[in-house]
Amino acid sequence: NQDPLVVFTPSGKRGRFPVGTPVLTAARQLGVDLDSVCGGRGICSKCQITPGYGEFSKHGVTARDGALSDWNALEARYDEKRGLKQGRRLGCQAKVQGDIVIDVPPESQVHRQVVRKAASARVIEMDPATRLYYIVVDEPDMHTPTGDLERVARALKDQWEIDKITCEFPVLTQLQTTLRKGKWAITVALHKTSATATPSIIAAWPGLHEKGLYGLAIDLGSTTVAAHLTNLDTGEVVASSGIMNPQIRFGEDLMSRVSYAMMNPGGDHEMTRAVRDAINTLAEEIAKEAGIETNLILETVFVCNPVMHHLLLGIDPVELGQAPFALATSDHLNLTARDLDLTTLPASAQIYLLPCIAGHVGADAAAVALSEQPGKSDDLVLIVDVGTNAEILLGNTSRVLACSSPTGPAFEGAQISSGQRAAPGAIEAIRIDPVTREPRFRVIGCDKWSDEDGFWDETAASGITGICGSGIIEAVAELRIAGLLDPSGLIGSAAQTGTDRCFAEGRTNAYLIHDATAEGGPRITVTQGDIRAIQLAKSALYAGARLLMDEMGVDVVDRVVLAGAFGAHISAKHAMVLGMIPDVPLDKVSSAGNAAGTGARIALCNLAARAEIERTVRQITKVETAIEPRFQEHFVAANAIPHATDPFPELGK
Ligand code: FES
Repeated sequence: NQDPLVVFTPSGKRGRFPVGTPVLTAARQLGVDLDSVCGGRGICSKCQITPGYGEFSKHGVTARDGALSDWNALEARYDEKRGLKQGRRLGCQAKVQGDIVIDVPPESQVHRQVVRKAASARVIEMDPATRLYYIVVDEPDMHTPTGDLERVARALKDQWEIDKITCEFPVLTQLQTTLRKGKWAITVALHKTSATATPSIIAAWPGLHEKGLYGLAIDLGSTTVAAHLTNLDTGEVVASSGIMNPQIRFGEDLMSRVSYAMMNPGGDHEMTRAVRDAINTLAEEIAKEAGIETNLILETVFVCNPVMHHLLLGIDPVELGQAPFALATSDHLNLTARDLDLTTLPASAQIYLLPCIAGHVGADAAAVALSEQPGKSDDLVLIVDVGTNAEILLGNTSRVLACSSPTGPAFEGAQISSGQRAAPGAIEAIRIDPVTREPRFRVIGCDKWSDEDGFWDETAASGITGICGSGIIEAVAELRIAGLLDPSGLIGSAAQTGTDRCFAEGRTNAYLIHDATAEGGPRITVTQGDIRAIQLAKSALYAGARLLMDEMGVDVVDRVVLAGAFGAHISAKHAMVLGMIPDVPLDKVSSAGNAAGTGARIALCNLAARAEIERTVRQITKVETAIEPRFQEHFVAANAIPHATDPFPELGK
């Protein structure tokens, strides 16, 4: 005469429970991941389950289609109002009758995995720092004079077993109104800065809050600010948007912005204001695009390099411009929107900044480490996140090293004669026929293809506006493959190369990719200056990687991961022909997409991941390129294409 056996899938957790036990109660006792916001009152629908084998209580309530269903009256009412999916029941209403197998669908799990398109070393699992709790609060009573907040705290303890809470001041100022509007039933958003921290009320709504919660993952780069608006319940990105970093007007790269702050009293404040204004605008635009109210954005995670980090916080970055490159703090930070004047967001919205690794290696590198997990790799992996500054990580399970290398903006198409950002009209890939020396290319946003491999010859091209970072990298590598460029990076003359596409421009030569069109389209060339800019950038990248390899005591790595906004667009072969990355079998080069952005999303969705990266960062050894004499030696040797001394045997295969 045993109690019925209840088995949950997919977790496989099982236990015996008396007849009449609600499924939600059984799930909680077994530690099954089954969501609930209303605490079993049958109004939030978060606890939906699918009955598998076995039998539930039959209440004989008629469903919408006239058939006799298993629902009870509350479920029937819910279905009538909102619609319950076919075959689903509310876990808090369905009761155990006999042995049963119950499936918890992904959308009813708090810790569900988020499906992502981009390749990455890890999946995102939901473990939000902010969760919603519906409570019914005792009304005030003359004889037991406690404050409204104290009765809210008691309700959370009685109804959710949450022992202790605090309340953000802006929420407290509205609490009485909210409680009375909700007729003593409210939903509170509780935020925890760590698994063991005291939760804090960061928002409250009258009644059941059904509009959801959202968070922003912001990759604050020196050139662009990219944001992903994420549903904190499902992990789904509901809108993505980016804008130019307005600090560009104070200096193109990081060091010129630090100089601006040094030379101009109050210059740091100007830059802080500019970037905060941009974030406010971005938040407003992205919320509009997704059709949600900005007051639902209760969390924001930032990843950024150290200079951006300080300027966002309103800290003068001057110390970062000179040895020993001291950060004001390298630790992670938990702040609120009001601390950073992010007025578009609710004042109590929570801000999390990932920790920095060192004065030159920022929270963006930490985010890449969080996304790509080099410390969990058995083989030795080199990860390069290519941007205006390259973040480089090298490691395996034994050790992880990190550095940052000043590549400059050439890889992003800046300081290139026909360069532009990766946007419609930009040549993003190019092939030069080694026999005819004629180019074919692929253009962003053009949907007509003249060739099977998607490359156009010039006659079919239209709407071309310039060449972006991946395009210029491929162009230089292709010029080398086609023999139009010597190993030192000099473009040959028409006579030397046998093609008129190579032409004299002043005292050097250039290569014509695309002539000006009758409609006024631009003439696109690769000049000797462009080649030099790419050589400088790639030498800095390679020298950084090589420095880490020296430190690790190795001459080869097992695999290379290209990260960064355009990492996905660089072909492994071209990166290696150019000598951007060390020699490695081509099939061991992969792309991780925007790994820093992914790291930001992981930290946004998963509280445990924040603790993980805070721990990991303490174990990463940083290598300072700026004061390391070998960096200069590597830099000079890496100027040749692909390299003056290092062998590249894989290229010969
Ligand atoms: Fe809210 Fe079941 S827990 S409807």
